[in-house]
Amino acid sequence: MRVLGIETSCDETAAGVVEDGRILSNVISSQIHLHRRFHGVVPELAARAHLQRIAEVVETALNGRKVDAVAFARGPGLMGPLLVGKMAALAASATLGCPVVAVNHLEGHVFAAELCGKIRFPLVTLIVSGGHTDLLLCRGPGRYRVLGRTRDDAAGEAYDKVARMLGLGYPGGPAIDRLARRGDPQAVAFARPLLPGTWDFSFAGIKTAMLYHLRDLKRKPTRREVADLCASFQEAVVETLVRKTLAAVERCKVKDVVVGGGVAANGRLREAFQEAARGRGVRVSIPPPILCTDNGAMLAQAASHRLRLGRAGRSLRCDPGLGFENWGA
Ligand code: KG4
Ligand code: ZN
Repeated sequence: MRVLGIETSCDETAAGVVEDGRILSNVISSQIHLHRRFHGVVPELAARAHLQRIAEVVETALNGRKVDAVAFARGPGLMGPLLVGKMAALAASATLGCPVVAVNHLEGHVFAAELCGKIRFPLVTLIVSGGHTDLLLCRGPGRYRVLGRTRDDAAGEAYDKVARMLGLGYPGGPAIDRLARRGDPQAVAFARPLLPGTWDFSFAGIKTAMLYHLRDLKRKPTRREVADLCASFQEAVVETLVRKTLAAVERCKVKDVVVGGGVAANGRLREAFQEAARGRGVRVSIPPPILCTDNGAMLAQAASHRLRLGRAGRSLRCDPGLGFENWGA
């Protein structure tokens, strides 16, 4: 089965074609430069930019190929941008004479790992992006149990806000990732918000601790200090994510972990997950960075499961707050 996936939920205009778990194309046009001076995504600008680029991105991804279905993300994301993706998917499906399938953007992040090798169910999955920090038990496509999620800022949001405090560009994740390599992760002891007794996360405290640290410094931090702060902040976030995920793995008695979403592109997070899994008999799958951040191929892969299981006829309504739904429910 060959599926075209169209992704426009935030600031990436993307389309990809996947055939039986194999990527045939994955075209991503990033809007980062457009939003940089606002230190965040401006929904109206994002929607307009998607509209300008979507036709060319989809045509490049298709490259004259025929497909069996067209998928788009109906949520979560920004309403204007989501609607552009939906309209593009409806237009493509009418032109190509094939069905349109609405998928959940978060499911795309889970199934991105499958584009690089088989994943085994049941598994625990951690989705860490600009808008989400979700920990789930997944028994198969469409069978999810949310274990925990963030109570305040998403992991990526914390990266972006801390980067702004440190005078680094937008998005903050890649900038902190890069600088942290030169810093000392032990320089500043940020608390690890483990929230014992729950599977939830909370990153607002680390963000505030960074704010107070910079305020008390009463001067601009030096380059060395910025690198140390990046490394210390990153270590606190990464350690929290890894420890809680592996505790869930133990509790749920599973052997497989899938990590996805933009923050899964983080070098230290990837390394820390593999270090922690080693010796515990746990297999951690994290797709390459280009498949961690938003893309169309991941949506095509999520749609393939829906089509295979006959769950494609559900609502096409865009829902900015969409969470993980069980298909059988
Ligand atoms: O999944 P994604 O592309 O879009 C959403 O669905 O939100 O994630 C974007 C987020 C941003 O907050 C960005 O700062 C973060 O992922 N990110 C990273 C890295 N690359 C992107 N965070 C940490 N380290 C990275 N290398
Ligand atoms: Zn995403």
